[in-house]
Amino acid sequence: MQLIKTVKEIQAISDKLRAEGKKIGFVPTMGYLHEGHASLVVRAKELADIAIVSIFVNPTQFGPTEDYAKYPRDLNKDLLACEAAGADYVFAPEDKEMYPGGFNTEVSIKGVSDKFEGSFRPIHFNGVATVVTKLFLAVKPHIAVFGQKDYQQTLVVKQAVRDMLMDVAIEVAPTVREADGLAKSSRNTYLSAEERILAITLYKALNSARQIISSGAKNRQAINDAMSEVINNSGAFKIDYASSALFDDLSEPEEFKSGQEIVCLIAAYLGKTRLIDNCLITIP
Ligand code: PAF
Repeated sequence: MQLIKTVKEIQAISDKLRAEGKKIGFVPTMGYLHEGHASLVVRAKELADIAIVSIFVNPTQFGPTEDYAKYPRDLNKDLLACEAAGADYVFAPEDKEMYPGGFNTEVSIKGVSDKFEGSFRPIHFNGVATVVTKLFLAVKPHIAVFGQKDYQQTLVVKQAVRDMLMDVAIEVAPTVREADGLAKSSRNTYLSAEERILAITLYKALNSARQIISSGAKNRQAINDAMSEVINNSGAFKIDYASSALFDDLSEPEEFKSGQEIVCLIAAYLGKTRLIDNCLITIP
């Protein structure tokens, strides 16, 4: 496995691999890798000949009061994790390599980025769309693998790819969970021991949505209330949103219909840590 720091080098490597007929799979990450990221690399290797992982904590997707400065970083440990997962190259640019002086362009997505995460983190998805576009232009992958954990992000990326004619297939891989159901996340390291125990409340809330849906609930507000009730009963969280929507465009009809696939999405603060989770459910 090779560590690459510059855009020019990774572009040259990709050009060579493409000329040799190799299919390139790409996993964009912000580092501090866990088993969830490793599963994306494994998936990339299943779908392509070569797996390239990027490690870049992207400043433009963090709001001014968010955790950019304290976001956990450990490149040496990440390199070992990438190698163990089967990555062939790690692209880990410095900030100035991705955003050189004078950088003044933004990829801005409307619609699917407006609600849920977008309404609580107004600059977030433009930052994601901008850096993902830049990473695609640097790495030149045939396919890119994203985790379902950041569900709305996967829709935003798909929208950007479609709108900007990017020739990259987007694969979404399932969320990897701890034994008790907590979605794996680099931000879980912020949790105290007590918070870590409470953190599974979000998973329990998603399960309560599953339960009332399997008992026949189709009313969107009732599904949202079932999730909020579980979270509020724990007395430990401040909810940003606990919402259900159609899985493909995040529209929010009053009543869902049988056969429709929906996504239940939660974001909530546990102390100072903002956790997100989601699940896909088909209305019976
Ligand atoms: O999901 C993430 O880790 C980031 O949002 C991404 C896609 C690497 C862009 O910085």
